[in-house]
Amino acid sequence: IRCQSTNTKEPKTDGNILDNASNLLTNFLSGGSLSSMPIAKGAVSDLFGKPLFLSLYDWFIEHGGVYKLAFGPKAFVVISDPIVARHVLRENAFSYDKGVLAEILEPIMGKGLIPADLDTWKLRRRAITPAFHALYLEAMVKVFSDCSEKMILKSEKLLREKEVSTGEDTIELDLEAEFSSLALDIIGLSVFNYDFGSVTKESPVIKAVYGTLFEAEHRSTFYFPYWNFPPARWIVPRQRKFQSDLKVINDCLDGLIQNAKETREETDVEKLQQRDYSNLKDASLLRFLVDMRGVDIDDRQLRDDLMTMLIAGHETTAAVLTWAVFLLAQNPTKIRKAQAEIDAVLGEGAPTYESMKKLEYIRLIVVEVLRLFPQPPLLIRRTLKPETLPGGYKGEKEGHKVPKGTDIFISVYNLHRSPYFWDNPHEFEPERFLRTKESNGIEGWAGFDPSRSPGALYPNEIVSDFAFLPFGGGPRKCIGDQFALMESTVALAMLFQKFDVELRGSPESVELVSGATIHAKNGMWCKLKRRSK
Ligand code: HEM
Repeated sequence: IRCQSTNTKEPKTDGNILDNASNLLTNFLSGGSLSSMPIAKGAVSDLFGKPLFLSLYDWFIEHGGVYKLAFGPKAFVVISDPIVARHVLRENAFSYDKGVLAEILEPIMGKGLIPADLDTWKLRRRAITPAFHALYLEAMVKVFSDCSEKMILKSEKLLREKEVSTGEDTIELDLEAEFSSLALDIIGLSVFNYDFGSVTKESPVIKAVYGTLFEAEHRSTFYFPYWNFPPARWIVPRQRKFQSDLKVINDCLDGLIQNAKETREETDVEKLQQRDYSNLKDASLLRFLVDMRGVDIDDRQLRDDLMTMLIAGHETTAAVLTWAVFLLAQNPTKIRKAQAEIDAVLGEGAPTYESMKKLEYIRLIVVEVLRLFPQPPLLIRRTLKPETLPGGYKGEKEGHKVPKGTDIFISVYNLHRSPYFWDNPHEFEPERFLRTKESNGIEGWAGFDPSRSPGALYPNEIVSDFAFLPFGGGPRKCIGDQFALMESTVALAMLFQKFDVELRGSPESVELVSGATIHAKNGMWCKLKRRSK
């Protein structure tokens, strides 16, 4: 990896292979207004031995909060500084788009919120935000607990069968796969009132969803966008499969949209207007979007919105639960502390919205997991015009100049493990969020202060002034953040209410791989035992 390249000319970004190649050449030949930045020099082997986000951490420690990284002729700016991240995500949000991420996701999500161009995004964000009303989230806690219960019942059944057949009191399960099914069932019911039932069965739609996610991950890690070359769709088997998976999901979503339009009832509309979710048979987001906007809402846009939420809300939450188990299993005293809270608050019952508010330690576990394993570990942006980044936490006065068309990684992973903002940054300490940290006189960074986000159930980027941003920040912040946090709290509480969990192998044997989210390469195999009280 070298840093000769910088881009002063605007690269074309329509994803066409020839254009991409010519952009690379243009960038390679052009001079460097990124030249004021520290430069990461490493060996190419750094990129293959471990996930990219881990190498970016090592270079962050070496080069600081803003540095330039070049892959051959292509240069990226890597940001690991809260002041600069805040500038890009919030203060100057509309000077950036999603760049390469939008190129990868557009064939799957169309004009859904994540890849959408600015004009579409403004309209759709305004339409969808009210659907995530606090009372909708309250109603969804029941969906979270019903779906989690199915997972628990399935595990208990497996355990009973094992006891009967072998006399052993422990089962081994890949909890990453179990959480993936759970999160899919929850998204299906809450977003479009569709029961995937994936905790207990397989179906062509489930297979197609996994196939599509798998392809999205492949595209986000492959070096060369060969899928933009039209014949690749038919020649390359995995691309043919991707097209047929997309068709299965799209047909399913189209059917659900049609059904929602045909079953629209004025009485439901009134209940939704009054946010009376308790008496609704179908409280899904799709119902809300169709009922509130009327039947002439554009089917294609609706499908893109649903597909986006299906993808964005599924693997992310599953990953949080997976890494929660990984971290907790290595900390039995923290498991016991969590179980004591669960027993005191829930007893043998299921969580409700009110009881969930009392599960303070479980909520802190969820945010601490998101700190150590942010999903995704990197946010991606591209400058739409020449930009000047602000000075960072080291008090640099001079900002770096960044040309139009520059690709930027905001490393949430680096921010969350920065030794400048966290004590013992790599340790799993949920209690850390109960302590506040002053800014230590860091110019332009306000430090940690819960009073900046009164009433928030979970710490966020406002409280930490962008040192902790598991859901991003600014206008493009995750729309499902509270949904995901509550879902994770409920699922974790219900798992540890019933089971003691250990890793099957050593923690070191769990290998990380990353695509859109951080996975365990060979699954998260755990031993589950009924709790000893
Ligand atoms: C955006 C994380 C769950 C829907 C984002 C972003 C992050 C994120 C970091 C910002 C991306 C960026 O700035 O480039 C997470 C995590 C989740 C989660 C960690 C689970 C723990 C969900 C759920 C939904 C959802 C459950 C929907 C039901 C979205 C959408 C966007 C988004 C639609 C795009 C927002 C926009 O651009 O306006 N998510 N998310 N996410 N997320 Fe989530």
